[in-house]
Amino acid sequence: MATLEAIEEAKKQREYIQKIKEIITAQDAKRKKPLTACVVTFGCQMNARDSEKIVGVLTEAGYEIIEDEEQADFIIFNTCSIRENANTRLYGHLGNLKKFKRKNPDMRIGLCGCMMQEPHVVEKIKKSYPHVDLIFGTHNLYQFAQVLYESLLSDELVIELMDKNPLIVEDLPSVRKFPFKSGVNITFGCNNFCTFCIVPHVRGREHSREPRDIVNEIRALVKDGVKEVMLLGQNVNSYGNDFKDGFSFADLLREVDQIEGLERIRYMSPHPKDFTREVLEVMRDSKKICHQIHMPLQSGSTSLLKRMNRVYSKEQYLEVVRMIREILPDVSLTTDIIVGFPGETEEDFEDTCDVVREARYDAAYTFIYSPRVGTPAAKFPDQVPADVSKRRFDYLLHLIQTISAKESLRFVGTTQKVLVESVSEQDETLLTGRLDSNLLVHFKGDRSLIGSMVNVTLKESKGFYYFGEIEA
Ligand code: 5AD
Ligand code: SF4
Repeated sequence: MATLEAIEEAKKQREYIQKIKEIITAQDAKRKKPLTACVVTFGCQMNARDSEKIVGVLTEAGYEIIEDEEQADFIIFNTCSIRENANTRLYGHLGNLKKFKRKNPDMRIGLCGCMMQEPHVVEKIKKSYPHVDLIFGTHNLYQFAQVLYESLLSDELVIELMDKNPLIVEDLPSVRKFPFKSGVNITFGCNNFCTFCIVPHVRGREHSREPRDIVNEIRALVKDGVKEVMLLGQNVNSYGNDFKDGFSFADLLREVDQIEGLERIRYMSPHPKDFTREVLEVMRDSKKICHQIHMPLQSGSTSLLKRMNRVYSKEQYLEVVRMIREILPDVSLTTDIIVGFPGETEEDFEDTCDVVREARYDAAYTFIYSPRVGTPAAKFPDQVPADVSKRRFDYLLHLIQTISAKESLRFVGTTQKVLVESVSEQDETLLTGRLDSNLLVHFKGDRSLIGSMVNVTLKESKGFYYFGEIEA
């Protein structure tokens, strides 16, 4: 249950939302048009979910939400710092907004998310981007209303940053991007300290949300039309390690599985070292938990994995893959791989290719190693030259595409449950839906089906997506 302090905090933040509303209503009346806001999200599902909470506060405070950042009176960037190019993109946006702010004196610019937890980033913003109005960190999301209110009353930069783990404040508003599916946080932070990764440095130590709060949130979502939830955490299968009563990720899955009206459950991302047979058995026995597992490999070389602090060997990883396939023969398996980690030799890279060949992923997200300030690997002496990383990256991409194209054929001809998500972006006469495996299928159908579950026969595979026919 939420602590008294967290309940008080939620109440306080709701009061701030009302105070912002008063300011905005007065300004709207003066300007004779509503103030607009735009939320730009970089990075992972966790950030996407955080942005829904930001949109929730802005909507309740009276802003009209728009997509066009240059037209917005308040624009907020929810930032990501996982790789260098995410940082670079933010600076590009900020540079570009300077001239728009000159034209629109009402315009305010806010920054939040992982980059704001990096002290050198905040220093750079203060120095080079004086048109930024407010900054808050990943631990301060629940204080967004307060920070925005303070900023509306001030011409100075308002900064709210905490470096310790925050309260988990429940029951603040959020507006979902999709009415029929939602991310649900189950853990915050990470304790693993993989040597390449900035996340534990910017998101803090892992703590789990109370099972009852998670279940209550999902029940409310289902009541509001949600059919599919994605349980979110940096390392979901260590859920509960910080509880004293032994309640585990498998226990949580069992409880969520009981929720009436919920049709689909996914989770992301599990760590190979924490995978238990019990979790897989719960998945096998459930009608709702999708047989889809995204299990980051990072590297297939045991010695590199050691330097990455991943705490498993090539063989142990492959053992987990075998256990998954034994219990869930129809599983769709995906992964993340980094190439060019410091010290990676041709043999190390070959080990990664071996695992890819044996694990037969349905999809794999490949990244060239990007040194992050403050992580141990950034200081490792034997950084891999860019041309070597690029060559390995291209080779790996081709290998993965060949394997996943072949793997996707195994579902052609089957009829599967599909959650209809939208009209196809490529062809307006088609609908796009998501399969249990998380892959997309395009098929003819009426747009009134959006948000519902239908049966679709997969007719043709295009590698990462299918064309299908809806069952009459
Ligand atoms: N460089 C490249 N890729 C990284 N990832 C995390 N940190 C880095 C980094 N410094 C990748 C990992 C992780 C995914 C979300 O991003 O593969 O699983
Ligand atoms: Fe980063 Fe490793 Fe934690 Fe994933 S498990 S968030 S890669 S430190």
